[in-house]
Amino acid sequence: MIDDSANIIAIANQKGGVGKTTTALCLGAAFVILGKKTLVMDLDPHASATIHLAYYPENIEESVLDIFLTDEFSIEFFNGLIKKNKRHFFDFIPGSIKLSAIEAELKDKMGKGLILKKAMNVLKEYYDYIILDCPPNFGVILINALVASTLTVIPIQAEFLALHGLKLTFDTIRMLNKVLEEPVSYKALATMFDKRVGACRRVIEVLKHNLRDRFFNTIISIDTKFREASAKGQIIYNIYPNSRGAKQYLELAKEINNI
Ligand SMILES: Nc1ncnc2c1ncn2[C@@H]1O[C@H](COP(=O)(O)OP(=O)(O)OP(=O)(O)O)[C@@H](O)[C@H]1O
Ligand SMILES: [Mg+2]
Repeated sequence: MIDDSANIIAIANQKGGVGKTTTALCLGAAFVILGKKTLVMDLDPHASATIHLAYYPENIEESVLDIFLTDEFSIEFFNGLIKKNKRHFFDFIPGSIKLSAIEAELKDKMGKGLILKKAMNVLKEYYDYIILDCPPNFGVILINALVASTLTVIPIQAEFLALHGLKLTFDTIRMLNKVLEEPVSYKALATMFDKRVGACRRVIEVLKHNLRDRFFNTIISIDTKFREASAKGQIIYNIYPNSRGAKQYLELAKEINNI
C-alpha cells in the first residue's frame, strides 16, 4: 500500500473459527519479515491471540481494555500497553476477558464507535501496518474496528456452510456504509482450502465469481502446522518457516502491500 501512514487492517467475520486469529498473527509476522513495522491488537474478549502468544490474560494488567476506558491518547500511554518480543515478530497489544463488559460500560457514551479510530490517529505515525483481530460477534468492539480500519480482511472458510454465515458480515458492512463518510473497504480471503475436495473448489469459484476484485488471489490451504504452532504458543514462522501455510501468508502480505 502506497500511503505514508499505517494501513489499518481489521480481520473480521461474524462466523467463528474461520481463521481470523491465525490470519492476524501470521499476516502480522509476514509483514515484519517483509521489513514492515507492524502492530497486532487482540480485540476479542476470548483473548485467543493473547493466549496463542503464551501470555496469560488473567495476569495481564495493561491491555486493549485501557484503550476503551481512556479519552486521552499519547504514545507514552500506548508504550505502557505494547509488548515487544522477537518471539512474536510484531509489537502486540494483548486482549482482556474484561472486554466483554465494555458494551454495557459504554452504553451512554457519545462517539463510542470512534474510540479506536481516535487511538489509531496516534499509533499510525509509528507503524506501517496495524492489524486488529476482531471478535466473532456483533457489538461496539467490532464497529470500532471496522470504522478504524482502512481495509477489512474477511477470512472465509472454504466450505459451503461458511458462505451462509458470510451474509451477517456483509450486512454489518452495508449498515455501516450507510452512516459513514468513507465506506468500509473490504476484501475476502479463502482459508482452510483443501484442493482434494470438490466442494471446496466450488466454493472458491462461487466466491471469485461473486466478489471479483474483492477476493484475494492468495488462497490459504488447510495445513495442520497452524494448529501445531498454536498449541506450542508459537508463530508458524518460528517453527515451520518453510511450510505451505507460512509461504501463503507471506504471499498475502505481498499482495496487500501491492494494493
Ligand atoms: N489454514 C488452516 N489450516 C488448518 N487449520 C487452521 C487454519 N487456519 C486456522 N486453523 C485452525 O483452526 C482453528 C480456528 O482458527 P482461528 O482461531 O484462527 O479462527 P477464528 O476465526 O479466530 O476463531 P474465533 O471466531 O473463535 O475467534 C484453530 O485451531 C486454528 O489453528
Ligand atoms: Mg479468533
